[in-house]
Amino acid sequence: KYDYTKYHPMEEIYRWMEEVERRNPELVSSTVYGHTIEGRNISLLKLGLENSEGKEKKVIWVDCGIHAREWIAPAFCQWFVKEIVDSYKTNKKLKEMLQNLDIYVTPVINVDGYIFTWANESTRLWRKSRSLPPGGSDCYGVDLNRNFNANWGTVGVSFDSCANTYCGTSPGSEPEVKAVMDFVGRMVDQILCFLTIHSAGQLLLLPYGHPHISAPNYDELVSVGQAAAVEMKKVHGMNYTVGTSPQILYPNSGSSRDWARLIGIPFSYTFELRDKGEFGHLLPEEQIQPACEEAYAGALSIITYVHDKPFTNGSLPDTAVATVTVSGVTMMIWSTLIAVLHTAV
Ligand SMILES: *[C@@H]1O[C@H](CO)[C@@H](O)[C@H](O)[C@H]1NC(C)=O
Ligand SMILES: *[C@@H]1O[C@H](CO)[C@@H](O)[C@H](O)[C@H]1NC(C)=O
Ligand SMILES: *[C@@H]1O[C@H](CO)[C@@H](O)[C@H](O)[C@H]1NC(C)=O
Ligand SMILES: *[C@@H]1O[C@H](CO)[C@@H](O)[C@H](O)[C@H]1NC(C)=O
Ligand SMILES: [Zn+2]
Repeated sequence: KYDYTKYHPMEEIYRWMEEVERRNPELVSSTVYGHTIEGRNISLLKLGLENSEGKEKKVIWVDCGIHAREWIAPAFCQWFVKEIVDSYKTNKKLKEMLQNLDIYVTPVINVDGYIFTWANESTRLWRKSRSLPPGGSDCYGVDLNRNFNANWGTVGVSFDSCANTYCGTSPGSEPEVKAVMDFVGRMVDQILCFLTIHSAGQLLLLPYGHPHISAPNYDELVSVGQAAAVEMKKVHGMNYTVGTSPQILYPNSGSSRDWARLIGIPFSYTFELRDKGEFGHLLPEEQIQPACEEAYAGALSIITYVHDKPFTNGSLPDTAVATVTVSGVTMMIWSTLIAVLHTAV
């Protein structure tokens, strides 16, 4: 019996993935979609049911563990899969959603970094990947959540390879990031929602991290986020704050959340799970269950909205990806003009 209230080393998570797939063949399948710099598999579990009409399904993306030390994130991805596996047969709404949607869950993207944090006490707070130091440096690792092709290298990053926010040598230079960009990019037209799970701070961040760009569906992103925060608070009374990164955390660039919205995925959020600073990335195991219960309620709230919009209400997804203000002039940007956006801001 797998203990979801403990943190697990990577080899146990890999074995758990195999076991979940083996026990639930009608719901779960797995895919290896990339390799880390040290050659390990980056794998996801796909959760979805056949629909009788055989119509094309939409996709929800959920990833965890892009920052190595944020152990509550992989714990959440495992919890999330367990909840769905345990309840879809009896929960009619969930079953309906799984007939219309496939949910792709990556429990750990930064596998090398995660393993490094388990190596010994002195490396427990490692954040980055384990890519080799660039010439003239002896500092390993890139901040994978600064390496995506989204206003790369502009704000909230460092070009010093020893810094925790080192953004790499070019957008997508890291194999872990390239793997996500290639896999998600290939099915962008199917993806309704991109959720990326981090800690800590109890925040729900929405696009964009760059202070000069805003999402055309900003108001809707805020209201869907706030509805999720209400659901999260109902579970254990915890406050989650909703906003863009510049509003409630700090400006940043190169994040997967911004990249997902920029390529045209209408809903994109970063969850910053518990806590608000007492334990930070060293969240005690006693808090895994409550943290995951509230985060599950929040994720399900967003997924339900995102599902109902096309499947119940019949609304078309948004196609514009950003409004940009340059020299006082506000422009609406569509995905065909992304190249312009990357150079203009
Ligand atoms: C990596 O994935 C491949 C399938 O693509 C599998 O055959 C192999 O055993 C996996 N490697 C490890 C170390 O799990
Ligand atoms: C901890 O792990 C790091 C990286 O593998 C290693 O350099 C260091 O010597 C280890 N420290 C201890 C106390 O084992
Ligand atoms: C949550 O936020 C509200 C409003 O900011 C505040 O009144 C309340 O004390 C907070 N609750 C907790 C548990 O932090
Ligand atoms: C669907 O339509 C109903 C009734 O107009 C509305 O209350 C609800 O917010 C809509 N839901 C979504 C996800 O658009
Ligand atoms: Zn993080």
